[in-house]
Amino acid sequence: MDVKKDKSCIMVIFGGTGDLAHRKLLPAIYNLHYEKKLPDNFAVVAIGRRDITRDEYREEVLDSLHAFSRFEVEHGVWNSLKDRIYYKTMDFLGAENYKSLNMDLIEIDDEYGTNGNRMFYMAVAPEYFGVIVDNLNKHCMKKNDDGWNRVVIEKPFGRDLDSAKVLNNKIVEVFREENTYRIDHYLGKEMLQNIMVIRFANMLFEPLWNNKYIDHIQISSSETVGVGSRGGYYEKSGALRDMVQSHMLQLLSLIAMEPPNDLETKSIRDEKVKVLKALGKSKIADINERVVRGQYGNAETAKEEILAYRNENRVSTSSDTETFVALKVNIANFRWAGVPFYIRTGKRMKKKSTEIVVQFKPLHNILYFKEKELLPNILVIRVQPTEGIFFQFNAKEPGTQNNIIPVNMDFCQNCQVGINSPEAYERLLSDVIRGDATLFARWDEVEYSWRFVDQIFEAWENSDPQFPNYDPWTWGPKESDELLERDNRRWINL
Ligand code: BG6
Repeated sequence: MDVKKDKSCIMVIFGGTGDLAHRKLLPAIYNLHYEKKLPDNFAVVAIGRRDITRDEYREEVLDSLHAFSRFEVEHGVWNSLKDRIYYKTMDFLGAENYKSLNMDLIEIDDEYGTNGNRMFYMAVAPEYFGVIVDNLNKHCMKKNDDGWNRVVIEKPFGRDLDSAKVLNNKIVEVFREENTYRIDHYLGKEMLQNIMVIRFANMLFEPLWNNKYIDHIQISSSETVGVGSRGGYYEKSGALRDMVQSHMLQLLSLIAMEPPNDLETKSIRDEKVKVLKALGKSKIADINERVVRGQYGNAETAKEEILAYRNENRVSTSSDTETFVALKVNIANFRWAGVPFYIRTGKRMKKKSTEIVVQFKPLHNILYFKEKELLPNILVIRVQPTEGIFFQFNAKEPGTQNNIIPVNMDFCQNCQVGINSPEAYERLLSDVIRGDATLFARWDEVEYSWRFVDQIFEAWENSDPQFPNYDPWTWGPKESDELLERDNRRWINL
């Protein structure tokens, strides 16, 4: 059998007691098992520092499934999964502990027939990736080719280009690029996978997808929540690192890429990375013109008091960390020259939503109501919370002589009864098991995203932001609106 195609494996989770494992990874595994999408030969080894028994761990997992699973927790399904879940109390900084981990893995391999295939999932803070990978290499990996070793790495992949390179060098010493799965969970969302289909399977869209017909594109991802318990992490990250470097630039590259020659992983990634390369280098003055940053203040409602970012737990009271970014981006290639892409993301905004708005150029108004402008056609790809497509066009108002009004077609994919789209992590984990890295970031994608984002940090170094500058549950600071108003445009908040 082709070893790479063998789906049998042990999934080893570093950070097995953490938030990510409980909220996302274990529910995703349960849901895959529920739908019979896990291989028969499969086991999970969760690693954590807490000294709890295997049974105690499994009780905690069950609680998390009740809270976060997409499907009901059914007794039979849980029982058959539970037997395959192990817990190991281990300090992953201690090199000597990896020998014992390896002994456990060999035993589990024998019991479940997992053929020596191992998926190592790094659900821990990035500063530990290096030391874990080193020790895995020394003690826990088969060196011959009779099994596969894959590593899954959560974002953030570094905190700038330099640290990302150091981390990457560490990883490539041990894992080949094809075995390195850099997760960006947005790529596992249904509608992101749908973007290529919408673009490349519809005669109506693809011929118009360029600077002849498109006026501009908006990519927005807003959240109503604040940083909550993640203040410590967020202080070192901010919206630019947390969302733009990864998720927003992935959205941008899918929207703007050229059609790949085929659907092979390499062909798709090659086209995506070209978009990131075309973002190019800008002057500092230009960046200050095109990038707006914000931080939320406080608010009081009848029910509760909403803390300003600076008063959140583990956040400095004079913090300059941005919780909002809006930017105008140009892609310097033949398809997109002259078409601005506006990107916006933030916490404590008006609603939870991720959308891409494609605004087409106006048609010359020769025939109808010359004194009144026709509204442009707008195509909206809704990523979340609802998934679907919205299209606005002009039509005659019934009963009037020639009154033109905007009407729309609104396709909601997950509003139909019975459609319960898989969570991003289900798709991504099942891809790692199958050995398909298409929905993961290749090193050069990460590299060019950092190159782009690093210049913004450089520009910010020399200026002091006036924070806080937006109220909770708004669309961000007024400068964000002004960014578009200067171009005679406005954010489209559907
Ligand atoms: C994560 C960020 O990658 O994405 C979080 O670290 C953010 O800060 C989250 O809240 C948003 O993901 P989603 O799927 O809820 O849009």
